[in-house]
Order: sequence, then C-alpha cells, then structure tokens
Amino acid sequence: MENSAILSIDNVGVMFGGLKALDGVTIDIKKGEVLCIIGPNGAGKTTLFNCITGFLKPSSGSILYDGSVELTGRRPYEIASQGIYRSFQNLALFANISAVENVLIGGSKRAEFSYGITDAIFRTKKFLTMESALRQEAIGMLEFVGIAGKKDNKAGELSYGERKLLELARGLITKPKLLLLDEPAAGLNPTEKTELVLAIKKIREQKINVVLIEHDMRFVSDIANWIVVLDYGKKLAEGLPDDIKKNKAVIEAYLGTR
Ligand SMILES: Nc1ncnc2c1ncn2[C@@H]1O[C@H](COP(=O)(O)OP(=O)(O)O)[C@@H](O)[C@H]1O
Ligand SMILES: [Mg+2]
Repeated sequence: MENSAILSIDNVGVMFGGLKALDGVTIDIKKGEVLCIIGPNGAGKTTLFNCITGFLKPSSGSILYDGSVELTGRRPYEIASQGIYRSFQNLALFANISAVENVLIGGSKRAEFSYGITDAIFRTKKFLTMESALRQEAIGMLEFVGIAGKKDNKAGELSYGERKLLELARGLITKPKLLLLDEPAAGLNPTEKTELVLAIKKIREQKINVVLIEHDMRFVSDIANWIVVLDYGKKLAEGLPDDIKKNKAVIEAYLGTR
C-alpha cells in the first residue's frame, strides 16, 4: 500500500549538552494537509525543522520523506533537492535588488531554467527566452502572495511583513513538494496576516504539503488540518484545531509560560 505520509518523523531525539531539546518525537504528516506545530518558546519547534532539513543530525530516531527517502544524515542541499523548502525565522533576501529579481533567483535553481554562465554573460537567445518566462512566473508568484504592487521595489525597502511574503514567493517558485514555514506570521500586521492565510490556503489547493510553526492559535485554527503541540521537547498533544483549543494540558502549557 502507498504510504500516505509525506513525512514520517519517528522517535526523534536531539541532545544539546545535557538538554533534551527533542525527546522521542513521533509525527506523521499526511499528504495534502497543513500541519501546524505549536508550543511555548524553547519547546523544540525550530530544532525539529533543523532535523528535517539536515541542519542538525538527530541523536536518535529517523525521518522518512515520501514513504521511502531517509532524510537523517543527509546534507541540507541534498534535502532541498528533494523538493523540501524551508523558510527561516530571520530572513535571507538580497536587500539591494528588486522583489521580482529576488524571486527570479529562487526560480533559476529549477532544472528547466538551467543556462550556462556564457549564456548569461552574452545574453543569448536561450537565456533571454528563459529569463522572460521566469520573470512572468516570478510576477505571478508576487501576485499570489499579494505584493505584486511592490515588484520593482528593492527588497530592503519593503516592510518586514512584505519581506516575509516575498520570501514565501521565492520559495514557491522552486515548486516545492513540502514547504516548511517557521513562524511565518510573526511580525505581520493584520492585512499581511490575511494575505498570508489566503496564500497558504491556495498553496494547499495546489497539493503542496505545508508544515508551519506558529504561536498564534487563532491564526493556526483557520488553516491547520492538524495540530501538534510540543512542550519541553516532547509531543504534548495532537489533534484537530477545535480539540486542541479545549485540551487542558495544552492550555496549561501555554498559561504556565506566559
Ligand atoms: N544550537 C543549539 N545549541 C544549544 N541549545 C540549543 C540550540 N538550538 C536550540 N537550543 C535549545 O533547545 C531548546 C529548543 O529550542 P528551539 O527548537 O529553538 O525552540 P522553539 O523553536 O520551540 O522556540 C531551547 O532550550 C534552546 O535554547
Ligand atoms: Mg523557534
């Protein structure tokens, strides 16, 4: 039978000195769902993303991608080449070039847009055709996330929220199969949050798998199919948004740290 999980995180543990940042975490992420990971600061959420994307090697456990690809022990670029795109809590954009160029750079990593350096230097017909197709796509991506009006502004001129949406557009143009978003709504104003929610809903419709880390329960319950709660490196609970909101242990974990 086909494995319906896009990601099977099995008993993953991470030690930092004497600290168990993750302690036997098991999560199955089903294909086509938006899974949200919530939990207080220091719960191990970003550490889990680091394990999935190869930035950290778990001290125990395994992470299986798409039913058959073992991710543990692989390097970040190998994992990225499987179609796994990850956004960072701190943004990694080129501030001095335009929004659309930033998206273009993301897209130029796609195999079908491979042109040689000589093509680029001499601006050959091959290069120009590809560049113009990719530029159209990049503008489409900016429309998708709701910031097409800023396409010619330098990334550094955009607001923090707009830059986060820009980073999302840059991720989407790589055509990922799995999108990992670390606190995408943090620092966004209400309008930008609405744009982000709309974008994530459209992303889900395109059958791209989304895992997102989030603090804001209201934001999460609007888009999540399934919620996993981490606390002190352990899975405290998982379930449907409405059930998680009522879960006593979850409420206590949140109230206890705030
Ligand atoms: N590279 C590291 N070295 C040592 N401790 C770390 C490192 N990264 C994270 N930690 C610790 O691991 C725990 C989990 O951190 P993190 O995954 O960033 O939490 P979250 O993203 O849920 O806020 C915290 O106690 C944090 O201080
Ligand atoms: Mg974090």
